Amino acid sequence: MSNYDQWASQYNSIVDNEVSQKTGIIETSYQFVLEQLYEYVDPSKIKICDLGCGQGELSFRLSKLGAAVTGIDVSDKLLELARNKSGAIKWVCDDAMKLKQIADNSFDVAISNLMLMDVPDFQSVFKSAYRVLVPEGIFVCVIMHPCFQSPFSYPLEDGSRNVSSYSAQHWKSKGSGTLRSTLGAYHQPISEYLNKLLESGFSIIHLNEPLTKGSTSSVPSLFGIVAQKFNC
Ligand SMILES: C[S@@+](CC[C@H](N)C(=O)[O-])C[C@H]1O[C@@H](n2cnc3c(N)ncnc32)[C@H](O)[C@@H]1O
Repeated sequence: MSNYDQWASQYNSIVDNEVSQKTGIIETSYQFVLEQLYEYVDPSKIKICDLGCGQGELSFRLSKLGAAVTGIDVSDKLLELARNKSGAIKWVCDDAMKLKQIADNSFDVAISNLMLMDVPDFQSVFKSAYRVLVPEGIFVCVIMHPCFQSPFSYPLEDGSRNVSSYSAQHWKSKGSGTLRSTLGAYHQPISEYLNKLLESGFSIIHLNEPLTKGSTSSVPSLFGIVAQKFNC
């Protein structure tokens, strides 16, 4: 049983709500991924794997563009919800840190949207993504912004923010009965992500810090990375 199984229904409701409102951090991340894809590939002609696909909304949108999509997740419950989506999407239960069921050089694009904070060894996800991509394949990775979307950063009345910690650590939010107070998340500084991506063989071709759709805040909620498999 995956950690996310018990949160599948709640996560699904959050996604559905953001999608219908076209606002929020998750919806912003989906739009960001789609915009980036159009910069580098023709989505109608390619094979994409969506690592940590969750309840499948992003995979679904990618497949609507004509891409051949494989959605991969460790949560059976989230995959059950994903399977209700229309479209010829292949759903696979696999660990993104290993991708045992996925052959080398089999995708033009790999995506990791809002999932690296949930894995104990994010570099293994980079290495797996590198392995399954074709030469010159594109990796689009979105994480919660490590500086501003963490339990160590909170807004002050004058609009500035107090950042009390910035080290790699596993944290749990206060309270109980919520996803992050139960599962927690792994926090890493930006340099950790970028250095490990480079060490995994990727070249970084674009960085972005999207603002949340529907929010008036000028502080970015997300950190987006586009990388390419050049060293092969
Ligand atoms: C915050 S959710 C994001 C889901 C989806 N990418 C989205 O943007 O809606 C994190 C997802 O990562 C998945 N996940 C966590 N660890 C994983 C692993 N080792 N391999 C594959 N998926 C994993 C969880 O099951 C969950 O679906």
